Formats: sequence, structure tokens, C-alpha cells
Amino acid sequence: MDFQLKTLTVAQAAAEKSDLLIVLVGSALPTAKDPVSVLAASARKAGDLPDKAGKLLALYRPETVVPSRVLLAAIGDGKAASVRGAVSAAVAAAKANGPKRVVIVFAQPADAAAVAAAVTAAADASYVYTTTKSKAEPRSIRHLTLGVSEAASPAVATAFDDARATVAGIELAKEWGNRPANHATPTLLAEAAKGLAKLPRIKCEVLGPKEVDKLGMGAFAAVAQGSAEPLRFIVLRYQGGAKDEAPVVLVGKGITFDTGGVSLKPAAEMDEMKFDMCGAASVLGTFRALGAIQPAINVVGLIPSCENMNDGKAVKPGDVVTSMSGQTIEILNTDAEGRLILCDALSYAKRFDPAAVIDIATLTGACVVALGGVRSGLFASDESLASALESAGEASQDRCWRLPLDDDYAEGLKSNFADVANIAGRAGGAITAAKFLQRFTADYAWAHLDIAGTAWKSGAAKGSTGRPVGLLVSYLTNRAGNSNAAATAPKAGMAAKPVKKAASPKAPAKPARKARSAQ
Ligand code: BES
Ligand code: MN
Ligand code: ZN
Repeated sequence: MDFQLKTLTVAQAAAEKSDLLIVLVGSALPTAKDPVSVLAASARKAGDLPDKAGKLLALYRPETVVPSRVLLAAIGDGKAASVRGAVSAAVAAAKANGPKRVVIVFAQPADAAAVAAAVTAAADASYVYTTTKSKAEPRSIRHLTLGVSEAASPAVATAFDDARATVAGIELAKEWGNRPANHATPTLLAEAAKGLAKLPRIKCEVLGPKEVDKLGMGAFAAVAQGSAEPLRFIVLRYQGGAKDEAPVVLVGKGITFDTGGVSLKPAAEMDEMKFDMCGAASVLGTFRALGAIQPAINVVGLIPSCENMNDGKAVKPGDVVTSMSGQTIEILNTDAEGRLILCDALSYAKRFDPAAVIDIATLTGACVVALGGVRSGLFASDESLASALESAGEASQDRCWRLPLDDDYAEGLKSNFADVANIAGRAGGAITAAKFLQRFTADYAWAHLDIAGTAWKSGAAKGSTGRPVGLLVSYLTNRAGNSNAAATAPKAGMAAKPVKKAASPKAPAKPARKARSAQ
């Protein structure tokens, strides 16, 4: 799917060749005199297009209009959240007709956030997974033109370009999240990461069982030991900043299947544990977006990846293992495996002398109970990191909610046989998991995103959401001072080429965007 940003009035949009024109109508009635604007205004007056974001009205081939179909979509206040809802509803409603060429036009001025929301919502609503279907019907939309009424300001053009790059990242995360575990092994994830190293400024290194043992990652190795699939430890680097600039380290949980191990999970819905690598997928997706946006920042991605299986060699409840940090861990429940692979990756992160470390993990069912599928759980030992992530979540509409880290919550992690146990009681399970991780993060500013509720949807719409790629890209570009530094980036989305699947290995790196602020 390729995206294009154009300066278009509603009248001009109605003259563009397309299969579907979606007109976004805000609270203020359109005053233009072209047929579509006139119809929109009279529909609003007649009450057939209520002033409520997401309300739709299909028009049947109005005179002089080129597109075969026209859909009016109310966007209420025109804020990003309303635009997102309206575009999702409109694209979903139009799906059945299989439009190839779609034009979405704002009937009134749109800000940068609204433009970004339209791009990400259109992509999200039209996404289809095809990889493991024999007769897959791919997504129908090939070309999407987004029309804005005024010549795009640099902020709008940058928001458009970044949104397009973010979509590529989100879709990579969805793809790997959705793949069944036999099509997304640790080895295959590592291959995907190596593929990203074809993008400018990205490097990738992959460690296997021997190297991981040598590093003393006893907790990670313990989880992997019950599986026939060898573990992989993936190290990605994106260098957009000065060589000596401290990087942000992203750590993604990469359990490609979580049976629970000897502490076996119930059979119902166990298939969904293929999504237990969505933290890892979000790191891959974020690197995909970084490769396209090229912000002036250094980022390291760490992905410990393995299966959590039940086997003769599997780790047993009560086993004590030694983590890379030297701390011994009593594994009271083999299903609390995410924290075991993450703790060693968090220890490894120290060697980068990081400015901040953020881990992303489908860590606890308790977080699903606490926050549902709307917001990811956020934990942070550093105030400015916490608020930067909260704002990035709001800006990208990939929201999170901060939960506490009082030391009292760590009480239950005490063990009679090791320095720490890997579980506490049932109460506050998302927090006690975070308290466990915190023990390994003393040397840097740290945040943890529990995406157990937000990384995928269950039921009829079962599938990966690609979250929190939007949040992470927004945080990183913001940190690099992206939004006002269009000077070094390509001028406008209109001129920029569509994001390619992968740049050629020798593609020249464009100058990274200038850093603007420290955090
Ligand atoms: N991958 C799961 C967390 C999970 C469960 C995510 C359900 C989404 C839906 C994790 O490895 C896990 O099993 N956690 C346990 C921890 C418990 C044993 C302390 C859980 O949440 O039940
Ligand atoms: Mn588990
Ligand atoms: Zn798990």
C-alpha cells in the first residue's frame, strides 16, 4: 500500500480518479459549493450525517464526481482520536467493495496529529494477514491519497512521512506477531532482524546458545532448555546520532510460544501464546520505522528469544538458576518465564551505558485484568522517562497507564532458597512482575511496558495490533527532536517516495534529523 499527501479541496478530490472517496466532515458545516460539499452540508442539516465522529453516510454517484463511491465520515472536533475512529469506520465499511485506489480528503484544515491519525487508521483498518493461507486475498487498497485543504506545513508533511514509516513498522510487527509459532521460531525472528540490517544505519548481530551460556545468562538459558528450537539473542543497533551518544535500549520479550512449561497452561486459547513474542516484534517494527525516518538518535534493540516448552529437559518448579547479574532465582512457576529471559537482557543492556532502557513484554495476565486492551501498563524508575512515554502514547494514540513500583510490592518475591523467587502471590501480579525486573535495572533509567492486553486482539478479530510501535516511534523521534527538524529531512511527503520494503544494502543514508532536546 502506498501513501501520498496532496493539497486537495473536496472538489479537487472528487475529480481524482479513484474507487472510493472518503470525505472527512468536521463539526463546522462545509461552505464550499461543489456537489459533494453541498450534499455533506445538507445531510448534516437533515440529521443524516450526525456531528459525531465515526458516523458515516454513503452517497450514490453524485453528479460530476469521478470516484465510483463516496463516503462521508463525520470527524466531530477533528482531533486525532476522532479522525482515527472515523477513518477506521469508513475504511472498514468500504472493505467489502474491495477498493484499490482510495482518496481521503479533509473538508476543513487538519493538523499534524489528525493527518498522522488518518494514515495509521487507514492502514490498520485495511490490513490483512496472508502469509500462511493458501488462497489469501491480499488487502485491496493499493494506493491511498490523503488530501489536505491547505498546502502542507512542514509539521504536517513530517507527520505524514513519519506516520507512513510507522505504518511500515506496525505492519512488520503485526506480521511477526500473527505468524504461527512454527513459522516464527527464534531462528526465523533472528533472520528477520538480520533483514533489517539492510536498511541504512542499522546493524544486527545474533548470538546462539553457546554465546548466551558464556555470558552467564542462566535465567534465559533455563527457559530455553525445554525446547528443541535453539534460543537466539538478537542485538540490533540503529546509529542516527553521534558515535559516543548514549543510546536508548529497547528490550523485547521474544517467547515464540509459551506453553507455560511444566507449570502448564490450560488448553483453552493456548494458541494465543504464539503472540508472546509481540514485544520482540515491536522492537523489529520500531527499527523498521527508524530505518525510514532516520532520526538523530542512537537506539539498541535487544531480543531474547526462545520457546517455553514442557519437556524432559525443561526447567522444573523449585529449580534455582543463576542470572547474568549473579543473582540466583528460584523458579517457582515456569510460566513466569518472560521475566527470566528479560532479566538477563536487562543485565546485558548495561554494557551500552544507556541513556534509558525500555523493555516491552506480554508479561502478565494480571495486566490484562487491570487495563484491558485499551492501555498498556507502564512502569518506570525515572520520572522524565515515564512522562515522555506517557506523552508519546497520547500523541500516537497508542496509550499507556502508569502503575506503581512501591518496594512493598516486592515482599512476596522473597525465597528461602535463592536471592529472589520468580513469582509472588496472585495480588498485583503485573506490579510484582515489574518489581522482579527492577532488580536488574539499578544502573540506568528504566521503564517497562506490559503489553499483554494491547499487543493482540482475541475473538473474531484475533490478530496482532502492532502496538506499541506507534508509542515507541513517537518517543524516539520526539527525543531526537524530529517534529521541528524538517530542515534535514525530505521536504514534504508529496515529494517523498513511498516507503520501500527494504532499501538496498548500499543505499546512501540520508542525513539524520538534528537532535533538538535532551529528553
Ligand atoms: N505470556 C504470559 C502472560 C500473558 C497471559 C499474556 C495471558 C497475555 C495473556 C506470561 O508468560 C505468563 O504466563 N504469566 C503468568 C505469570 C504468573 C505465573 C505469575 C500469568 O500472567 O499468569
Ligand atoms: Mn508464561
Ligand atoms: Zn509468556
